[in-house]
Amino acid sequence: MAFDSSLRYRPYEDWNAEEIQQIEENVAKSPWHSHFHIEPKRGLLNDPNGFSYFDGKWQLFYQWFPFGAAHGLKSWVHTTSEDLVRFEETGIVLEPDHPLDTHGMYSGSAMQMDDQLFIFYTGNVRDKDWIRHPYQNGALMDKDGKLVKFDLPLITQPADTTDHFRDPQIFLYDGQYYAIIGGQDLENKGIIKLYKAVDNDYKNWEEVGDLAFGNDRTAYMMECPNLVFVDNRPVLLYCPQGLDKTVLNYDNIYPNMYKIGQDFDPEKAEILEPSALQNLDYGFECYATQGFNAPDGRALTVSWLGLPDVTYPTDDYDYQGALSLVKELRLQDGKLYQYPVDAITSLRQDEKPFAAQMETDNVYELQLTIPKGSQTELVLCADADGKGLKLSIDLQEGTFTVDRSQAGQQYALDFGQTRSCFLDNQDTTLAIFMDKSIFEIFINKGEKVFSGRVYPNDDQTGIRLTHGQAEGTFYTLNHGR
Ligand code: FRU
Repeated sequence: MAFDSSLRYRPYEDWNAEEIQQIEENVAKSPWHSHFHIEPKRGLLNDPNGFSYFDGKWQLFYQWFPFGAAHGLKSWVHTTSEDLVRFEETGIVLEPDHPLDTHGMYSGSAMQMDDQLFIFYTGNVRDKDWIRHPYQNGALMDKDGKLVKFDLPLITQPADTTDHFRDPQIFLYDGQYYAIIGGQDLENKGIIKLYKAVDNDYKNWEEVGDLAFGNDRTAYMMECPNLVFVDNRPVLLYCPQGLDKTVLNYDNIYPNMYKIGQDFDPEKAEILEPSALQNLDYGFECYATQGFNAPDGRALTVSWLGLPDVTYPTDDYDYQGALSLVKELRLQDGKLYQYPVDAITSLRQDEKPFAAQMETDNVYELQLTIPKGSQTELVLCADADGKGLKLSIDLQEGTFTVDRSQAGQQYALDFGQTRSCFLDNQDTTLAIFMDKSIFEIFINKGEKVFSGRVYPNDDQTGIRLTHGQAEGTFYTLNHGR
C-alpha cells in the first residue's frame, strides 16, 4: 500500500510500537533485501551523509525517513566501518529535534575537529505558511555518539538565493577549511556557493562567492555538490536538476554529473579550466554521490542507488533505497575512474570459472573479459527462458547496453528500460557486483559505471551467455555485513 502522504511530517513520537512492528513485519516479507549493501531496516533511505574518518573508523550516515517509503521528516542514521566494505549501524540516529531543523535534518558532511566529529548539515524548517527556511547548521558528536547541536545557524539563506539552498560539504584545502553549498539563484538557476572558515574556525563562515566552474546555467538547482581532489586536481561532483539535455544527454529523472578542473583557486572561487560535463554513472540509479578526501589522501565516494520522485517495487514493503559500494576515484589519462575500494575482495568466498550457464542466488561478483571485436550478450537474473537483465556488449558498434525490461518488476517506465554508453573496440573488462536487487557494473576497472536496481522474479536467478564470448571468474560472496 502506498504511504499516506499526510503522515510525512507526523512527529516521530506519535508513531507507536504496534505501527512500527507492522511496518517491520511488512519489510521482512520482501524477497529483494540486499546482503552487502546498506539499506534501511524500514522506511526510506536517500542521500549518503557525513562520510568521514573519526575515532579510528570510517563514518557514514544516511538520510532516513523511518516510517514508510516516502520522503518525510528526515533523520541521519549512523553507521561505521573498519574496512569501507562492512558497515554496521551503531543504533545512533540524529533526529530533527531542534528549532533549526523542525522539518528534517537534511544532507551534509562531517569532519573530525579535535576529538569530536563536526557535522555540517541543512536544517529544513517550514513556517506556518509552509514557507521553507534553510539553515546550514553545525553539531558536534563525541566518540560515544552524543550529539550537541549549535544554538545558531552557521550560515543563513543568502540574499541572492531562493529557499533552495542546502547540502553543505566541508573540505580542507591547503590547510584551510572551506565549504560548498548547492543553491538556486533569483533567476531560478542552479548555483554552487563557496564559503571559507574565518580564521580557520569551523564555527564562523563567510561567503567567498558563487563558484565558477563553467556553469551552463540550464539547471534550476544543484543538489549535493562535492569537491574532492584527485592527484591535486579538483573534481566537482553535483546533481544539476533540470539540466538541459542538449548540454549533455541523460535518461534518469535527475542526473549526477561531474567536471574535472586543472586547478582550484579558492580566493577567486574558481575551478580553473573545467572539463566538459560528464555523466558520473550510466545506469538507472545513482544520485547524491558524496565524496571526501580521506586522511590517507584517497578520494572516496558513495552514492544513493535511488532517485527522488520515483516509486520502487519495495515501496509495497514499506522500504526503499540503498547505498552503493564505496568507490575510490582515480585519474588516468585525464579520465575519471571509479572502482570499489581494494578491500571489496575480502567478501569473496568460493570461486569458479565463468560458464555460459550458471545458477546463483543473485549475490555474487563476476570478473569478465570480453575480447576485442566481439558482440556479446549476457543475461543476469535470468530465468529458464533466458529472460532477465540483459547486457549487450557490442565492441564492433562500440556500445554497451543494459536492458532491464525483462527483469522482474518494472517501474520508472517513463524514463526507459535501457541505458547505454559508447565503448572503444578493445579487450574490455567487466566487474559485476550483484546483490539481490542491486547491480553495479564497472567497465574497464571503472572507466564507465552502470549502477541500478532490478527486482527479479523468484525464478530469475541464473546467468546466461546467450551470444558471443566472455571469460573470467565467478565469486560467491560472504553475505555477512
Ligand atoms: C537530494 C536531497 C538533498 C536534501 C535531501 C533531503 O536527494 O533532496 O538536496 O538535502 O535530499 O532528504
